[in-house]
Amino acid sequence: MRDAHSEFPNLHLFDHPLIQHKMTALRDRETSFRAFRAVMAQLAGLMVYEVTRSFPAVSVEVQTPLEKTTGLSIKASITVVPVLRAGLGMAEGVLEIMPEARVGHLGLLRDERTLLPVHYLSKLPRNLSAGPVILVDPMLATGGSAASASGMLRAAGARDIRMICIVAAPEGVRHMLEEHPDVPIYAAALDRGLDERGFIVPGLGDAGDRLFGTL
Ligand code: PRP
Repeated sequence: MRDAHSEFPNLHLFDHPLIQHKMTALRDRETSFRAFRAVMAQLAGLMVYEVTRSFPAVSVEVQTPLEKTTGLSIKASITVVPVLRAGLGMAEGVLEIMPEARVGHLGLLRDERTLLPVHYLSKLPRNLSAGPVILVDPMLATGGSAASASGMLRAAGARDIRMICIVAAPEGVRHMLEEHPDVPIYAAALDRGLDERGFIVPGLGDAGDRLFGTL
């Protein structure tokens, strides 16, 4: 994990070799959709470890088979919110690590012509203010979807939002910095930019299609 990026104070990039190794597998066009799905879940699980580092933990008493001792326990109610569809591939890995988390779903589809997000589903747990909300979406391209999702979470009461994505474009990080400067973004890669179709380059292609075999 590196400190906040020099140009983007809202961006934290992972430089861990294991994360970079898996990132390369996702970029590889020869990776099958089954392998892609497995690696994306693993990558999200590794990333959440760092994202949750600052979660408040309280001291609790625990009885071991031998004696009483104290330990730490995270009491806050954590919510994981995947942006459909591609965020589902990451949520799976995050929930492996934090099976007790609540899950909210946001359905957003990027219009291929305007590149603007079209909202088609919101199903969020009540009381989002009860704890941190982890927004997951592998791609941060123009940032329209992430900004819209953050706005919806905010409107639903979320106070502590953190985003995990796999690959980000500078355009998307800038968009988030302007609209939601208080949402830290954790990413495995900051790529060069967007092509004429709004795809992140070099990127990894369309994450949703590669995850679900809808290419
Ligand atoms: C992709 C991706 C993000 C969005 C990023 O979803 O998963 O949600 O585009 O683009 P943006 O930053 O420019 O908004 P897509 O619309 O392809 O939907 P899908 O996951 O259902 O395929």
